[in-house]
Amino acid sequence: MTVRAVVCGVGHYLPERVVPNAEFEASLETSDEWIRTRTGIERRHFAADDQTTSDLALRAAKAALADAGLTADDLDAIILATSTADLTFPSAATMVQAALGMKSGFAFDLQAVCAGFVYAMANANAMIISGQAQRVLVIGAETFSRILDFTDRTTCVLFGDGAGAVILEAATGKGTSEDRGILATDLHSDGTHRNLLYVDGGVSTTGTSGVLKMQGPELFKHAVIKLAETALASLEKAGLSPDQLDWIVPHQANIRIISGTAKKLGLSMDHVVLTLQDHGNTSAASIPLALSTAKAEGKFKPGQVLLMEAIGGGLAWGSVVLRW
Ligand code: ACO
Repeated sequence: MTVRAVVCGVGHYLPERVVPNAEFEASLETSDEWIRTRTGIERRHFAADDQTTSDLALRAAKAALADAGLTADDLDAIILATSTADLTFPSAATMVQAALGMKSGFAFDLQAVCAGFVYAMANANAMIISGQAQRVLVIGAETFSRILDFTDRTTCVLFGDGAGAVILEAATGKGTSEDRGILATDLHSDGTHRNLLYVDGGVSTTGTSGVLKMQGPELFKHAVIKLAETALASLEKAGLSPDQLDWIVPHQANIRIISGTAKKLGLSMDHVVLTLQDHGNTSAASIPLALSTAKAEGKFKPGQVLLMEAIGGGLAWGSVVLRW
């Protein structure tokens, strides 16, 4: 018998305010047409001034618990992937824990920028298969609107706010690729590329939160190569080939990166979950938002194979293969 981490609930939350591309035309030399054609983004959501990352995370967590038919008492742990936590400390995850009324177990934040959700799923999987936890709530939540330079057209039009959550629970499998649940994970980072995407502030440098800086075209080249490599690596670990994939649920950064990766795996865009047009790049929240949106649309059938892949600041990147 093999222990597998199976998805038993999914949920998401998007702030009310929708910002269409055209809204940037008033203050920047940009256009809806440029943003759509170069990125695939049409609109994004921005959190209200009084909404924090843990507020968004809490709404997504409650939706995932309702979807699973569980309460906070059924959870052993919360991992919240974010780079935009409410405070320097304590973690946003412990704020969610308190707001859910969860009195036992443990909660912590995980920071791997846009790869955060994939890293969090890999960590939750490791805790479940080692027996440390039976049920883990994995959340990706961000308020990237708070770290954008709204005078920089090369970055501020790309990002949005939101949260998505998944509950993983222990189940027994046969130890084959036919099992339901997480079949393989693959994580990487390379800190020598930190200048490609970073925030120019922090506690031990400027003492301020700073704003996002990105060398988009250079990052683009890394993304197309590294995402296909990690996808193939996790598929191999799972004992599957790309033609056995039913769905790619990618990090939603750029339509050209997403379609380039699908092409390298030999899959048509019919097999790709796309929410980029409506959400923009929500960093660690983008994959669980896409997952939850697609599930609500009835896209996934039991037994189908899903690949999640992401790359972001660090550079940090990775992938997860799971059977629904
Ligand atoms: N509106 C109009 N023109 C613009 C805009 C804009 N919003 N932004 C840039 N331009 C201009 C540039 O100034 C440049 O003009 P120039 O030729 O006169 O110098 C021209 O458009 C082309 O700019 P590029 O930067 O070469 O455009 P590119 O096609 O590379 O697209 C983009 C830029 C969308 C950022 C792309 O490079 C990209 O998606 N990169 C990867 C992003 C990514 O994957 N991030 C990872 C995750 S994010 C995370 O971890 C937080």
